[in-house]
Amino acid sequence: MQYIDPAKQKFASLSPAVWRASTVVFDTFEEFAERKQRQPDGYSYGITGTPTARELERRVAALENGRHCVVVPSGQAALMVSVMAFVRGGDHLLISDSCYGALKTFARSWLSQMGVDVEFYPPTIDGAIETLIRPNTRMICMEAPGTVTMEMQDVAAVTAVAKKYGVKTMLDNTWASPLYFRPLDHGVDLSIEAATKMFGGHSDLLMGTISLNNADDYAVLRETQSIMGLNTSPEDCFLVLRGLETFSLRMQHQSASTRKVADWLAAQPQIDSVLFPVLESDPGHEIWKKQFSGNGCLFSFIFRPAKEQAISAFFNALNHFPIGASWGGTHSLIAYYPASQQQARAFTPTQQAIIRISIGLEDPELLIADLKQALSAWQQAAG
Ligand SMILES: Cc1ncc(COP(=O)(O)O)c(C=O)c1O
Repeated sequence: MQYIDPAKQKFASLSPAVWRASTVVFDTFEEFAERKQRQPDGYSYGITGTPTARELERRVAALENGRHCVVVPSGQAALMVSVMAFVRGGDHLLISDSCYGALKTFARSWLSQMGVDVEFYPPTIDGAIETLIRPNTRMICMEAPGTVTMEMQDVAAVTAVAKKYGVKTMLDNTWASPLYFRPLDHGVDLSIEAATKMFGGHSDLLMGTISLNNADDYAVLRETQSIMGLNTSPEDCFLVLRGLETFSLRMQHQSASTRKVADWLAAQPQIDSVLFPVLESDPGHEIWKKQFSGNGCLFSFIFRPAKEQAISAFFNALNHFPIGASWGGTHSLIAYYPASQQQARAFTPTQQAIIRISIGLEDPELLIADLKQALSAWQQAAG
């Protein structure tokens, strides 16, 4: 049966095609025999993606001002692949204590059992990270701000040290997104986004992206993605491509609403502190102002000390904040991180429970009114 390649038919649309494939077929024996040479960009087997993934990678690389991008099936996979691609037994790996919890667990429970010397550092160490560099330091992982505790990191200071010692850097940039911070422009080697959040934007998929400039590192990342079997669904790539059509509009709207809600909350008597580098009172404000051009839709806060049941009264009184641990979608969300979790951390800005809010596309006045009545419920239960 003759195979008719649909890509060679005359057809045009504004919508990207969803190309599905486990198997890639070849016109000639010679092309099949040399198929490995098509990597890291081309197509030799479904595991490295179809033209749908490649189109998404091209779009994300452009947003990040990078030359290359690799998509993987979740934000956590992006963090893990970045480390697994470059770190080996005997290497020293520095991870900010504010990094995503699952990355820290992976490092603590897996990598350290495989001979990697894992060390967590205080997120606000900035240029003093130089004191932690060893001859075998291979990579520094950052997240700015940390998306529960919200500490800012001085990315410029950390990358300057890393460059001096030839250490690779990666930054989880999901909060600011490339709209408000482009890590590669600031000397970071690997820029990670959990596309699950703002790129996808509708709380209906998981995905991660790794963007970079170095062609050799790109080949290593592509091979790691492939060898670990991390294929990303073409349908999900299509949904993220569609999400990118409105990404910057959503980001700007959510960013402005987040400032409004955070400003209002910071002035309420029930609140001890709002953790949000945009606020002048925040310890990370100066770094944020200097290095970032905008803010993400996520912030945290801490209640004044009160009876334990006041927090559940607050959560259960809310009508417009579904309770859930993710963020970055069109719907606002709220999550709870107990005091015990903060107390168990090596470097923490607080010993108290943290409440984290993600602001969606709703009218911010509606959200403020909802928080106001829930704070009254907190007040009553606080005694
Ligand atoms: C900052 C950050 N990075 C990475 C991740 C992991 O992304 P995913 O849920 O797609 O694995 C998350 C998820 O909450 C996150 O908040």
